[in-house]
Amino acid sequence: MSVDAGIENPLMNPALPNADYTARARLFGGNRMKLGVMAFNCSHGSTITTVPEAWRLNWPDTVEIAQAVDRAGMEAVLPVGRWRGYGGPSNFNAVTFESFTWASAIAALTRYVTVLATCHVPLVHPLMVAKMAATIDHVSNGRFALNVVCGWFKNEFDMFGAHMRPHDDRYKFATEWLDFLKKAWMAEEEFDFKSESFDALSVWSQPKPIQKPHPPIMNAGGSPAAQDFTTRYCDMNFVILKDRTFLQGARAQIAHLKQLARSHGRETRIWIHVYVVCRETEKEAKDYLNYYVVEKGDWEAAGNLLRIFGMHTETLDNKTLDGHKAHFIAGHGGYPLVGTAEQIVDELGKLANIGVDGCLISWVDYKNELAQWNTGVLPLMVQAGLRAPFPPGEPAKSKVPARSNAPARAAF
Ligand SMILES: Cc1cc2nc3c(=O)[nH]c(=O)nc-3n(C[C@H](O)[C@H](O)[C@H](O)COP(=O)(O)O)c2cc1C
Repeated sequence: MSVDAGIENPLMNPALPNADYTARARLFGGNRMKLGVMAFNCSHGSTITTVPEAWRLNWPDTVEIAQAVDRAGMEAVLPVGRWRGYGGPSNFNAVTFESFTWASAIAALTRYVTVLATCHVPLVHPLMVAKMAATIDHVSNGRFALNVVCGWFKNEFDMFGAHMRPHDDRYKFATEWLDFLKKAWMAEEEFDFKSESFDALSVWSQPKPIQKPHPPIMNAGGSPAAQDFTTRYCDMNFVILKDRTFLQGARAQIAHLKQLARSHGRETRIWIHVYVVCRETEKEAKDYLNYYVVEKGDWEAAGNLLRIFGMHTETLDNKTLDGHKAHFIAGHGGYPLVGTAEQIVDELGKLANIGVDGCLISWVDYKNELAQWNTGVLPLMVQAGLRAPFPPGEPAKSKVPARSNAPARAAF
């Protein structure tokens, strides 16, 4: 099945020529529930399973997926920052495309979608990032955004011979790092940058990014130190929802982050990772989830991941982490969207109501399930008022019956 099924060819049906497709326009405004696809720069994506249909990393399919996301009007593609796998029979995430070079190539091959790169702050110098990001922002005509992570996977740091700082010091360093990066993006003249960790003289970085004052910045982290950092210095927080069964708990988590950002005089937008199993019936979806998680899950690789994650992070306490083990196998700790297209859209509506601004999706079988998403779920989201049609004024062709006559919100 082609991943483009049901989506107009953009060359035949171009979006409005004057529409603003910069990352800032699309991630800070636009649709009520934004969407992206994540982790397909890594073997197995976000699914720790041994089923044969799991994502096998290769470039031709990567391009096909990115271009289908682009044409469907979703807002983002996000590569994970990963340098090695977790062992086990699947050796989950053992093969990965590097994030910035991936983003640059994807940027050249797409037209509308925001392309992110995930950067390990301690492993890349901020001046290098300033240049790479500015380059991708030019390649994409302003469609670049940066996801900064402080790192937790010690085995990766060991490969670089890099020091992993004590937990809260990571965010202290990240604050200096980001300060340097923003200065390199924004200062027109040469500058010196001195801080506890940097001593740089006569810094010069041109060209500046296309987006002013700079491309959007996301941070993935959940500890109090991460929350302080992200709400002071970043534009978006990519979070794990701690509470899966009672959305009230998730509502409080999100309200807290948004309130914290406001107390620092800024806005934050909340993105979450969702893993999707969409089938004709709820039973089929649940059966497939059970198959790839319980029957075919790689519990050894998941155990390795959770053991190291538990040791080096403060995102979730060990008891909660253990309780989330199946969610890690199913989709790296993401939030489950499992059921029929209608059930999934209902759940997306609830997530929007508690303040989630965007969902980054992973599937077991990206190509086929993305095609199904584009034909089966996106049109229902338009009908539910969660998204506007794309390209503007041209709804995606629906193969599912109309659900309601609720007017779609205008996106651009
Ligand atoms: C949704 C989400 C996505 C993440 N993506 C990455 C990633 O791509 N690479 C990485 O090394 N860490 C990633 N992390 C880990 C965080 O950056 C961070 O190191 C971890 O959550 C521990 O930080 P904390 O103890 O401050 O919460 C991610 C975390 C979350 C919640």
